[in-house]
Amino acid sequence: MNTLLVTGAAGFIGSNFVYYMLEKHPDLKIIGLDALTYAGNLETLAPAMENERFRFVKADITDRKAVFKLFDETPVDAVVNFAAESHVDRSIDTPEIFLKTNILGTQVLLDCCRAHGNIRYHQVSTDEVYGDLPLDRPDLFFTEETPIHTSSPYSASKAGADLLVMAYHRTYGAAVTISRCSNNYGPYHFPEKLIPLMITNALEGKPLPVYGEGKNVRDWLYVEDHCKAIDLILRSGVPGEVYNIGGHNERTNLDVVKAVLRLLGKDESAIVYVKDRPGHDMRYAIDPTKIKNALGWYPETDFDTGLKKTVDWYLTHRDWWEHVKSGEYADYYEKMYKNR
Ligand code: NAD
Ligand code: DAU
Repeated sequence: MNTLLVTGAAGFIGSNFVYYMLEKHPDLKIIGLDALTYAGNLETLAPAMENERFRFVKADITDRKAVFKLFDETPVDAVVNFAAESHVDRSIDTPEIFLKTNILGTQVLLDCCRAHGNIRYHQVSTDEVYGDLPLDRPDLFFTEETPIHTSSPYSASKAGADLLVMAYHRTYGAAVTISRCSNNYGPYHFPEKLIPLMITNALEGKPLPVYGEGKNVRDWLYVEDHCKAIDLILRSGVPGEVYNIGGHNERTNLDVVKAVLRLLGKDESAIVYVKDRPGHDMRYAIDPTKIKNALGWYPETDFDTGLKKTVDWYLTHRDWWEHVKSGEYADYYEKMYKNR
């Protein structure tokens, strides 16, 4: 593989993947494509811009003309699609853009890969396509055989994209793989998501809004471990296969928030319990047996280590998140939390 196209490269996981791949594969060239929505931040890619093996292209994956033009002009050996509307709460408010970007954008990329000689394509999906698990059945986990059963417009749009990817494999023989990962955390995580929101609110002396009673469980994975898994799938995964990625790192939301406060040396008085998210999934938990056995993947970073690294990153990158929070996101935050 000479040239990799990474879509959604200016977002949280896409940017971490760009850095991981540039470091890991010294001959690889990367084109980072991103529409720079509210979630995409070119400041995040500033160090990559210095690297002669990286090139940034501003484009929307739903813009068929622009995406085809890029593929026509530049040979691409593989595509990893991170570009998406990714926040569940926003999907409850404005579902349409989720369907457009997450489903129709995926279709444009699949069509491009097909029209340019069956380019290898990897779809970054989510464990949310499996719905949720009950809190009183800790013996249950999501496997690749778990039926699709979505809860939010976000997860429904990601499931729609997954089905389309598989349809292109069966109908056209597209060389595709899909990964379904649990909740990521780490550097460059947009501060609308639980962990970065709690860290930055605590640092700003603001309340920490916990939905419902804070009993919902998420299966946390340090972002670098996710990047490592995608690299393995891209190089050694079998076309037409789905791989679950997760690290048996389950925590209730309240435990996560308290752990953040402990690392910052703050007490719990800023925690406020706010109105729950409609349709709120109770528990996610991945069974990673398939990727472990097939590709030898395992999570290297345990939660305590990963959370400490993450908190330290936000402490030392205040400019990054203060800038993010001072823009359009400030209006969103006001609207989303004022009546909760
Ligand atoms: P993010 O919101 O931080 O980044 C998404 C990026 O996509 C942004 O840079 C945004 O500008 C870009 N984008 C949005 N619409 C676009 C469009 N139409 N054309 C081009 N670019 C567009 O999201 P993330 O957390 O980095 O998630 C990346 C992918 O991983 C998503 O597909 C998401 O569903 C999936 N995922 C995320 C997690 C998680 O915990 N964050 C877990 C599993 C799967
Ligand atoms: O599981 C993978 C998914 O993880 C990805 O597909 C999504 O793109 C990603 O956003 C994430 O979805 P969640 O809904 O789990 O993440 P979020 O950070 O929004 O919320 C995590 C949990 O914390 C969830 O139970 C809701 C709760 N929460 C969230 C926010 C923003 C709060 O209690 N308070 C908050 O202010």
